[in-house]
Amino acid sequence: MSRVLIKGGRIVTAVDDYVGDILIENGKIEALGRELTADDAKVYDVNGLLVMPGGIDAHVHMETPMGNGVETCDTFESGTRSAAFGGTTTILDFAQQFKGDSPKAALERRLASAEPQCCIDYGFHSILTDVNDASLSELPDMVNKEGVSSFKLYMAYPDVLMVDDADIYKTMRKVGDHGGMVNLHAENGVIIQALIEEALAAGNTSPKYHQMTRPQLMEGEATHRVIRIAELAEVPVYIVHLSAKEALDAVVEARDRGIAAFAETCPHYLFLDSSEYERPGFDSAKYVMTPPLRDHDCQEALWRGLKFDDLQVVSTDHCPFCFNEKAHGILKSKQLGIDDFSKIPNGAPGVEFRLPLLFDGGVNDGRINLNRFVQVMATAPAKMFGLFPRKGTIAVGSDADLVLFDANETHTLSAASHHSNVDYSLFEGRKVTGKVKKVFLRGNLIVDGDEWLGHAGMGQYQKRSASGQVM
Ligand code: URP
Ligand code: ZN
Repeated sequence: MSRVLIKGGRIVTAVDDYVGDILIENGKIEALGRELTADDAKVYDVNGLLVMPGGIDAHVHMETPMGNGVETCDTFESGTRSAAFGGTTTILDFAQQFKGDSPKAALERRLASAEPQCCIDYGFHSILTDVNDASLSELPDMVNKEGVSSFKLYMAYPDVLMVDDADIYKTMRKVGDHGGMVNLHAENGVIIQALIEEALAAGNTSPKYHQMTRPQLMEGEATHRVIRIAELAEVPVYIVHLSAKEALDAVVEARDRGIAAFAETCPHYLFLDSSEYERPGFDSAKYVMTPPLRDHDCQEALWRGLKFDDLQVVSTDHCPFCFNEKAHGILKSKQLGIDDFSKIPNGAPGVEFRLPLLFDGGVNDGRINLNRFVQVMATAPAKMFGLFPRKGTIAVGSDADLVLFDANETHTLSAASHHSNVDYSLFEGRKVTGKVKKVFLRGNLIVDGDEWLGHAGMGQYQKRSASGQVM
């Protein structure tokens, strides 16, 4: 029986804030209290540090094939190690069905890659790209046996990932019948495709046209449309990587009417804006992610949404491609689109910097309080995706996934010191106050300052409950 005693930290959950001790036994929280003792326990005195639930990043893309051999540059191993250094102890990645493929087979493939490599706990959302009777018939088992209770659909990328409104509706009905959640990439893909063709025909090939061909209005339109479809299908809907105030308006309007509409945003939309596309040369390809960075005034709207619970979750959409070809080869690099913005692999890194950024810009700058910080980075994703109360909180019986955080230490975010395979950071040189000091995964110390104590394969697959406690 292994026991760990964490003494004297400031324990912060989505609702609590007190100084106390945590006794961990066999990876679970056994007791919470003051002046706890345990003779045989390994003791950590963490006076002065915040002790919070390990982060849950509900949207990442590790070693993800994008077609034609293009793949994100973090493996499950490098990406989850990087996540751990950033205070995240659970990721939710994706198992993508290809055309003619089975969702269950897609899950099996991802499990086989993830299992020997993941350094933190992990689960998968299922991506459906081929909605038909055969694939829909697998959904009940996916929810009830495989622990996959959320299904992602794309309204963008025609001919590759996009499904039409009828398929969205059919999937929603099936998922709703089995207590699951439907996640939507909400952008009007058909209009965007027309805009891309127009831009290329006019000879506009530079990265800034990625942003100019994906207008905020078309994210707003798709978000409004899909929430209405979900309303008809009577299923909870979760909008991924919401970036535009027009999309947030659609979520707010629906929530005000009592519709189960939820959304996440990402650090890059909270901290960066479309002025990054004015960078000289090809450098702005680093900021080619979908949706693109938005007008500056979207940022305050997103912060307000986070504060008042119109946005429930902050995830990273970590989808890393190196800037330079040299690092991991052309197929994992932005250089693929040097002559044509539409060929730049869409996606940006960020899995390691979510907590420090959100703490600094959210808590230190007075936009959200400390409990809300824990809520959006851990508790809400745990509840939304069927991991709570095993994960996402500090309570007797919960997994001892903990991040110990120094609220006062200032440090500089940089690709020179992060642990991802990717060769740049969106936040290069940004100074933030609030630093991850120690991370425990089910009671095992895996990060101790700059030292890595975890190992590949120690992450466990998390079967998620269908009853995802929707807020
Ligand atoms: O740019 C992003 N988000 N890449 C991942 C694929 C997608 O668009 O969801
Ligand atoms: Zn994504």
